Amino acid sequence: MFKKSISVDFERLPKHIGIIMDGNGRWAKKRKLPRTAGHTVGAKTFKSIARYCNKIGIEYLTVYAFSTENWKRPKDEVDAIMKLLKDYLVDAKNFKDENIKVKFIGDLSPLSDDLKQLIKESEEGSADATGLNLNIALNYGGRDEIVYAAKKIAKKVKEGIISPDEIDEKMISGNIYTASQPNPDIIIRPSGEYRISNFLIWQSAYSEFWYSDVLWPDFKPKDLDRAIIDFQQRNRRFGGI
Ligand code: FPP
Repeated sequence: MFKKSISVDFERLPKHIGIIMDGNGRWAKKRKLPRTAGHTVGAKTFKSIARYCNKIGIEYLTVYAFSTENWKRPKDEVDAIMKLLKDYLVDAKNFKDENIKVKFIGDLSPLSDDLKQLIKESEEGSADATGLNLNIALNYGGRDEIVYAAKKIAKKVKEGIISPDEIDEKMISGNIYTASQPNPDIIIRPSGEYRISNFLIWQSAYSEFWYSDVLWPDFKPKDLDRAIIDFQQRNRRFGGI
């Protein structure tokens, strides 16, 4: 007797996947390498998973590249992550050849001018892509995002464009970084951690969570398949019965 293995149902894919790319430091430590080596391999994993999502027809992928709290890390580590992002963006072909539409979410104001310029070019250069919508969360914090939305709405109240009574969930959803995008269906966190860490906290109110012990640099498309298969077996009720 053989067991029927369950595979991904490509007709019922999650529309939006969020990933906390965690475990780069531990991956490097296990190999007695500097933490930055873990980020370098983590960046490769990111590229392969983004390509895979694009290939199978995922519509939205949001990856957590750098949080508002990550500035506390040693300068050489912060610089290494920014350099990996730059390298990725310099290779503008990533977007043109692969039909991936890139968008950065987060407070980009403290970034260097050359990184800001590259971000602008990559967003503009990929604006017409019709494949995967890739959100890269950079200097991103979920609470910071809600503050950002609150300030935008408060300005409209001050200018008399709206009244406070008109503020509702829809308006907040329309003023966060991911306005007009669907909420994540599933949030994936590898590396054996079980926290949301300020990632998409408004958007994840009804997201399914999926955890794995695999460290991010070791994460493979087959791990993503596992997450999707698990997701497809869950019964989402959104508060109903
Ligand atoms: C978390 O692992 C990872 C980060 C804070 C950085 C993620 C960055 C990349 C994968 C590379 C750059 C990204 C792109 C989009 C090119 P950790 O360092 O906290 O790992 P640890 O918990 O094992 O220490």
